[in-house]
Amino acid sequence: MSVDKWAQWLLVRRDGDSASLRARVATDLAGFREGVLGRADLQPDDVVLDVGCGTGLIGFGALERLGPRGRVVFSDVSDDLLDECRRTAGGDERCSFVPGAAEDLAGVADCSVDVVTMRSVLIYSDRKAAAFAEFFRVLRPGGRLSLFEPINRFAKLRGAALFGVRGTPVDDLLAKVLAAFRNSAEQVQRPMMEFDERDLLDWAVTAGFAAVELDYRAQVEVPAEPVDDWAALQQVAPNPLVPTYGEMIALALTGAERERLDAYMSGRVVPARRTMAVAFLRALRP
Ligand SMILES: C[S@@+](CC[C@H](N)C(=O)[O-])C[C@H]1O[C@@H](n2cnc3c(N)ncnc32)[C@H](O)[C@@H]1O
Repeated sequence: MSVDKWAQWLLVRRDGDSASLRARVATDLAGFREGVLGRADLQPDDVVLDVGCGTGLIGFGALERLGPRGRVVFSDVSDDLLDECRRTAGGDERCSFVPGAAEDLAGVADCSVDVVTMRSVLIYSDRKAAAFAEFFRVLRPGGRLSLFEPINRFAKLRGAALFGVRGTPVDDLLAKVLAAFRNSAEQVQRPMMEFDERDLLDWAVTAGFAAVELDYRAQVEVPAEPVDDWAALQQVAPNPLVPTYGEMIALALTGAERERLDAYMSGRVVPARRTMAVAFLRALRP
């Protein structure tokens, strides 16, 4: 069965269908989920709207924390992912499902929810300020917004290496792949690169939110999980809108260069360092 690009990425291309890469991603995601839900100040009877719910990482995490009268509204542009959440919910009457985009939550009434949560969704939007206005509209007075977004431009500005791998005989090839990827995907990745944590603050304040708090975490060249499954890594795409690393390598390198890269990376544990920044934002609708 073929599913849309968002579902394909979350279900397969994010981890290359590899158990070890899935476990790594899961560790990061668990921290991000706790960060969003911990800042949402959930109460047992809350109505929570999870915008861009994906497979329900945040929405089902919220459901576990609510009482029998609490409710979670799962919302996404992807019908395939809403279907996936419906299957996972298995008839739990506390769950409802509303198709739609963060920038136009027409299916959600004014002042109808207590909490809006969102993780890694705004990054794909080219109308981010409009999304904040929608969150404000659907929240009741006293309602809370809690969201997480990666700040992707940080790694580029810091000159991060592909896979965080540096100091190897194939650094030149990794740099060539990264440059080709940035050039070819520049347009599609523009919404992911064009903002930072200060913009998140500004959009929240401009939309009318009060008590706006932002927690920013930046890491530069921090030791990270090594690259130890080269075959699986090539099946991974860094986001839903771009090719896999394997496809990028095929486009960027000559046959001889690909052989040199494979010869070095295959069957070896290559140390890696992480350079990235993320932001958690929470705010109150007065
Ligand atoms: C990286 S996934 C995050 C999924 C989920 N929030 C999580 O934490 O696992 C991005 C999600 O945003 C959805 N999405 C993309 N653009 C959107 C938009 N403009 N409005 C609402 N959802 C969107 C995708 O369908 C996908 O489910």
